[in-house]
Amino acid sequence: MDLATTYLGLSLRNPLVASASPLSQSAHRVIELVEAGVSAVVLHSLFEEQIEHPTPDADLPHFFDHPAGPGAPRRYLDLIEECVKSVDVPVIASINGTSRLGWTSFARQMQEAGAAAVECNFYNVPQRMQGPGRDVEARCTEVVHALKQELDVPVAVKLTPYFSSFGELALRLVETGADGLVLFNRFLQPEIDVQTLTVAPVIGLSHSADARLPQTWIALLREQLTVSLAGTSGVESASDLAAYLLAGADVVECASAFLRHGIQYATVLLDGLDAWGNEHGFRSVDEVRGGLAVPWDVDPQEYTREGYVAALQTARFGYLHL
Ligand SMILES: Cc1cc2nc3c(=O)[nH]c(=O)nc-3n(C[C@H](O)[C@H](O)[C@H](O)COP(=O)(O)O)c2cc1C
Repeated sequence: MDLATTYLGLSLRNPLVASASPLSQSAHRVIELVEAGVSAVVLHSLFEEQIEHPTPDADLPHFFDHPAGPGAPRRYLDLIEECVKSVDVPVIASINGTSRLGWTSFARQMQEAGAAAVECNFYNVPQRMQGPGRDVEARCTEVVHALKQELDVPVAVKLTPYFSSFGELALRLVETGADGLVLFNRFLQPEIDVQTLTVAPVIGLSHSADARLPQTWIALLREQLTVSLAGTSGVESASDLAAYLLAGADVVECASAFLRHGIQYATVLLDGLDAWGNEHGFRSVDEVRGGLAVPWDVDPQEYTREGYVAALQTARFGYLHL
């Protein structure tokens, strides 16, 4: 099967992209990822706090009070330059922020350093009870607008699913100029340790079931939007990769599987995808993409409600046999 695909206007040799993670924090690992077969690499995120407080000073938030903090913006640009020189696939910079401060202008330097695109991780978990959801959405579109003003390269927006009307937000981001959406960021869910009676911030690795929610939204949005869609979360096997494509993803951004099985696992995923495609008679990724997306001419509300009711009915009978 021809694995070539297009993402954010970039021609890629296959749909497997290395997602932002500790593996994309150094050039030698980025080289290994590309040698293992990934078609593009998203570098780890630079945070707005690191841009707003680039030197060690009292204002730097305590969670950046470690060697990776001070001087991070300069080092990030160096990393982009080194990676761009070292690999023959697009290097995508990742910037992580949610406020209306001036950090978005730094994205231009990422572009000048050679980034083929910028992925903005709008990581926001509203904590203030008085903060209306509309304000969070407005800030998201403002951040995207500000990035679009700075950049000529494409902008992808990485989001969590925790919005009350995600589809509408997706549409508004596209109207604002987003060139692609990355669905979904997994959000930090601190672990309560009942032995030590402490709360630890943990980013656990994903499992296949985590792919269901992003796949559902990609399937719902595919026929409604013309921008690129990247799936992220829960790719553990080639079947998960194929399912994302059938839902309508242009690419799949993967981190956990590489962290769990090693960088070489990219080869296993790609060989598996190729074998699956051949077995099912697909000649290209283009033929696969969106094969199981929600058709554009159905009422998505009714469509999903119908599926939900049918699933409940089946479950009702299924579990009665237990
Ligand atoms: C250890 C770790 C570090 C991560 N760091 C970042 C990051 O810097 N920026 C970002 O946008 N996403 C980051 N992510 C999220 C991943 O890029 C990815 O979107 C998410 O884990 C879902 O994909 P997966 O199921 O293949 O892991 C990180 C994930 C892990 C597990």
